[in-house]
Amino acid sequence: MTARPVPAPPDLSPKNPDWWRQAVVYQVYPRSFGDADGDGLGDLKGITERLGHLAALGVDALWLSPFYPSELADGGYDVIDYRDVDPRLGTLDDFDAMAAEAHRLGLKVIVDVVPNHTSHLHVWFQEALAAGPGSPARDRYVFRDGRGAHGELPPTDWRSVFGGSAWRRVPDGQWYLHLFTPEQPDLNWDHDDVRADFRTTLRFWSDRGVDGFRVDVAHALVKDLADPLRDLGDPELSAETSLTDLPPGSHPFYDRDEVHEIYRDWRRVLDSYSPPRMAVAEAWVPNARRVRYARPDELGQAFNFEYLQTPWDADALRQVIAESLDAARAAGASATWVLSNHDVIRHASRLMLPPGTGTDDWLLSGGTRPPVDEAAGLRRARAATLLMLALPGSAYLYQSEELGLPEVADLPPEVLQDPVWEQTGHVQKGRDGCRVPLPWTSAGPSYGFGAAGSWLPQPGWFGRYAAQAQDGVAGSTLELYRTALRLRRKLTEGETLTWAADTPPAVLSFARTDGWRCVTNLSAAPVPLPPGEVLVTSGPLTDDGRLGPDTTAWLG
Ligand code: GLC
Repeated sequence: MTARPVPAPPDLSPKNPDWWRQAVVYQVYPRSFGDADGDGLGDLKGITERLGHLAALGVDALWLSPFYPSELADGGYDVIDYRDVDPRLGTLDDFDAMAAEAHRLGLKVIVDVVPNHTSHLHVWFQEALAAGPGSPARDRYVFRDGRGAHGELPPTDWRSVFGGSAWRRVPDGQWYLHLFTPEQPDLNWDHDDVRADFRTTLRFWSDRGVDGFRVDVAHALVKDLADPLRDLGDPELSAETSLTDLPPGSHPFYDRDEVHEIYRDWRRVLDSYSPPRMAVAEAWVPNARRVRYARPDELGQAFNFEYLQTPWDADALRQVIAESLDAARAAGASATWVLSNHDVIRHASRLMLPPGTGTDDWLLSGGTRPPVDEAAGLRRARAATLLMLALPGSAYLYQSEELGLPEVADLPPEVLQDPVWEQTGHVQKGRDGCRVPLPWTSAGPSYGFGAAGSWLPQPGWFGRYAAQAQDGVAGSTLELYRTALRLRRKLTEGETLTWAADTPPAVLSFARTDGWRCVTNLSAAPVPLPPGEVLVTSGPLTDDGRLGPDTTAWLG
């Protein structure tokens, strides 16, 4: 074993404006994290009480999904007031206390901004309904007359992401656009009030000391509002996946070139703070187009959903990693990586689904067709995580993936809360299976989530995955994450990697500039490790020191 100099840890001090470029960010879904007041719904105090867990885990920042006043028609992404806290989750004072405690622990705070749509209960939409057709209040949204002899048909064939027409008719006969639920009317971003109000929101939270923003559906804000609105021709083209089939920038509501003007404007606001506030785009668009949102004069980062969607396959992973790094470099952005979030099946389950498995069908079968081997899923998830954490750039973790939690795939229909279930006519169960309140203790009421129950039922096996059951236990997933994050802080340097030339096809092996190497075995048989000190592995090595299937090792 040769001693080598340990590079300085990344500078996360307030003076470093680039702290986010290699940060590990932990997503908190506030309703499911911790329930301090015992009403079954997570709250801000519940987060504050558990920030020690994040500090001990070794993440750099937490991102909170919306905690604003909301009817919860879409889990809080239907915002009634962008500059307040949902009374069920706390108060602005609670937010300040939470942010102060996070900062005291050295954690940055990122909040969600939801600019594509408001709640239908937002004061603007209520005004628009009352004011009637042709009024200035309606112009803040996208209201249109219908087609057909009596305006009884929606203005276009655009479909909602959650199923059905993207238009809803109001009693006076007009229709309004909602790309998500009918309770989430789309804003008109050609309107000055809309632009001004979001600048105010960015300043409101920046003034309160937040360090950054996650921008919801960043690619949808600008619509082609040509009069009359144009049909897609094929309603299936409403899906984001159709973007690969269309000329770039030509879709009437996704990824239009004009949207970038908005983010250049926002960047000026964010840069007026010291240090500048960071931002990350949620944009479900192809890699090459996605990095445009991450350009230095725009948001700086964008989630890498292509990585998340890549199957557990060495060639596919090698390709997506290389492409992502190239695209980020070309845009002057830092790469990002993510495996789980509040919208997808947890990766401890997802990565085990055979290629071609429809995830909706799998959820409808209660996770039984095909069944997922729990131990194998955990092994693979741990290998995938250790690989992700070795990649240059910033990594986004989703709450309790550090516990190795699988998807709760068998929630019964009567408890489902995700609007997707109703809106698809019970064809898609939706995203509740990754939103079940977390197990903190091995037993007790709601496994330590709160004093009472939880807004989604927790399964009987949750206790096995509880943080308490894993804390200090050698080999547990929680300890693996802690070790990896501690090492990563010491090892991260530079934003490049070098692939090893001499590896079998089903093995990923690369070195970071400082000589730190990551090897992942995606083959079915053990493989020898390259020379070097083994720093951490996602699972035990074989008796003769080789790397087993679905295992990752870091070497120094
Ligand atoms: C984003 C959110 C998702 C939400 C949707 C509408 O995709 O991540 O949870 O349903 O936007 O706001």
